[in-house]
Amino acid sequence: MKKTILVTGGAGFIGSHVVRRFVTNYPDYLIVNLDNLTYAGNLNNLKDVEAAPNYKFVKEDICDFKSMESLFGKYSFDGVIHLAAESHVDRSIKNPLAFIETNILGTVSLLSAAKSSWKDFDGKRFYHISTDEVYGSLGEEGFFTETTSYDPQSPYSASKASSDHFVRAYSNTYGIPVVLSNCSNNYGPFQFPEKLIPLMINNIRNNKPLPVYGKGENVRDWLYVEDHARAIDLIYHQGKVDETYNIGGFNEWKNIDIVNLLCDLLDKKLNRPPGTSSKLITYVTDRAGHDHRYAIDASKIKNELGWEPSLQFEEGLNKTIDWYLENEQWLQEVTSGDYQSYYQEHYKTEA
Ligand code: NAD
Ligand code: DAU
Repeated sequence: MKKTILVTGGAGFIGSHVVRRFVTNYPDYLIVNLDNLTYAGNLNNLKDVEAAPNYKFVKEDICDFKSMESLFGKYSFDGVIHLAAESHVDRSIKNPLAFIETNILGTVSLLSAAKSSWKDFDGKRFYHISTDEVYGSLGEEGFFTETTSYDPQSPYSASKASSDHFVRAYSNTYGIPVVLSNCSNNYGPFQFPEKLIPLMINNIRNNKPLPVYGKGENVRDWLYVEDHARAIDLIYHQGKVDETYNIGGFNEWKNIDIVNLLCDLLDKKLNRPPGTSSKLITYVTDRAGHDHRYAIDASKIKNELGWEPSLQFEEGLNKTIDWYLENEQWLQEVTSGDYQSYYQEHYKTEA
């Protein structure tokens, strides 16, 4: 094998697309997927590549420093692509400590394992996958650039901001070669249905209320997950050490407009009369401290690495809806167990 790469969080939503892309496109790399399979991790996301000779799964917790150190010793990783995290803002409002533990302590544990195991840093790379939420919330105008000051507003984004700072501190203090990217909202197959788009698809399909926070006027910039995985591939291979790249979809939408669009698309696909699903829209109590708008200026990655999103939003949404409609069993599996109690408690309604 030419290279051995550690991907953390590879059984999650974005991680599974990254693992699939690397295992398929780089047969001469060994891809080690490290994941402790929380409620959000699911090995069924990787069924199509699990038997590949260049793929290995390891069930470990990134917070366990001793295990991380021995894993680095065993595999002599050339690089790390670090995605493992607690990723849902609503859960961070309910239980911030879990986010501090995984996102901050877990990242520092991995950085420390790299520091103590890598004898020299030649050709090595620690790539941290982060979020645009570290920059805070925008008004109606403006975009986040790579030099926008950090201003995280939720426990989730504060934990991601802190982990970004630790990644840069390990570069500055110990010389670990790092690279970071901060991406906007992803959507696509295998996303856990606690996040806006898959939650709405699932509820429309099951004729359940569609809980829109506040007035539905918050704005997010949406990117198809495979476009993010392609950006990660480019940055891992061609991004400059110590640099940060913002990744976005040039695709801003108000939440309520997305929910209405999903209703229209699903009415057609499910042969329901026009206007049926939008009757399910229910305005609910707003998220505490709800960031108003995120928007990414992704011109650096475009100009330096030639990356641009490839899918139009409606095309991506159609692919996503079709995937969820065709993968009912996956949805049933991930919505059994913890999901029902989370849902009932969070939305204070019938699951
Ligand atoms: P996800 O919640 O779907 O997956 C996270 C994965 O990490 C899961 O497989 C989980 O089992 C694993 N994990 C959690 N704690 C772990 C631990 N202690 N040890 C080992 N594995 C652990 O998340 P996602 O949406 O795929 O996000 C992946 C990364 O990308 C995160 O770092 C997130 O902050 C970042 N990000 C996400 C988005 C988005 O829109 N989803 C956008 C920008 C950045
Ligand atoms: O911007 C990148 C971030 O995008 C990532 O770092 C996070 O990991 C990811 O979860 C996502 O965060 P958001 O909070 O923006 O995503 P979420 O899907 O939870 O919510 C999107 C918008 O939809 C947000 O304004 C809240 C709103 N919403 C969400 C849910 C779950 C609702 O109105 N109703 C809902 O039921």
